[in-house]
Amino acid sequence: MNDISELREIVRLTRQYLERLVGDGFSHVLLGATPGESGKSGPHAEPSEVIQPITVKPQLRKENGMERAMEEIRNRVDGCRKCGLAKTRKKTVFGSGSPRASVLFIGEAPGAEEDRQGLPFVGRAGQLLTKMLAFIGLKREDVYITNVLKCRPPGNRDPQPDEVACCEPYLLAQLDIIKPRLICALGRHAAQTLLKTEEGINRLRGRFHDYHGIKILPTYHPAYLLYSPGDKDKAKDDLSKLRAYLDESS
Ligand code: URA
Repeated sequence: MNDISELREIVRLTRQYLERLVGDGFSHVLLGATPGESGKSGPHAEPSEVIQPITVKPQLRKENGMERAMEEIRNRVDGCRKCGLAKTRKKTVFGSGSPRASVLFIGEAPGAEEDRQGLPFVGRAGQLLTKMLAFIGLKREDVYITNVLKCRPPGNRDPQPDEVACCEPYLLAQLDIIKPRLICALGRHAAQTLLKTEEGINRLRGRFHDYHGIKILPTYHPAYLLYSPGDKDKAKDDLSKLRAYLDESS
């Protein structure tokens, strides 16, 4: 074998080896020597020690991909100046929870505490939301929680149509990454905005609707329930329906 054909053979075998690694689910190859059984490293390492795959299982890669995609959208939201709320917000409130969640909870917009912390539903309404989740056996980390608007409207005024229009692509991007089995719209504003209807929450709640091909179940907003505890039983009925749907469709 001359030098060229030897080189070709090395390239062919290396390619074959790398293709096998990719097929086995490895995504990275650490080039350079690592200590092997011989204990030698650096230029004197055994040839078999030179290429060390880092084990990244395909499933994990997929999960990392989801997280990376979420981070990319989060960065866009952080730098967003599409509407006037960019001037008044303290922090953007992107969302929290698992990108692999089966159910996505969508509220209206961050309040004062959420604006301060950069996290959704962390004020009094958020504490009640945590209890509502517990009622159907879910923890916050089992679900994903976000809002129609990612920035707080000053004084908690209602979101304006132009603000909703600017923010909707971020919500749709989150939806596309999470691909939940079910969405729960929290309160009148979220339900009316997502469903593009003016029907009241009393008529919308407790029924399944469609949002971009995904089932959506509106219920009362936890902030409303803090002031109208008499409606908590109806919210419990809605949540039980949500739970039953998740159980049936799993
Ligand atoms: N109300 C909402 O709609 N969202 C929050 O994040 C907090 C309160």
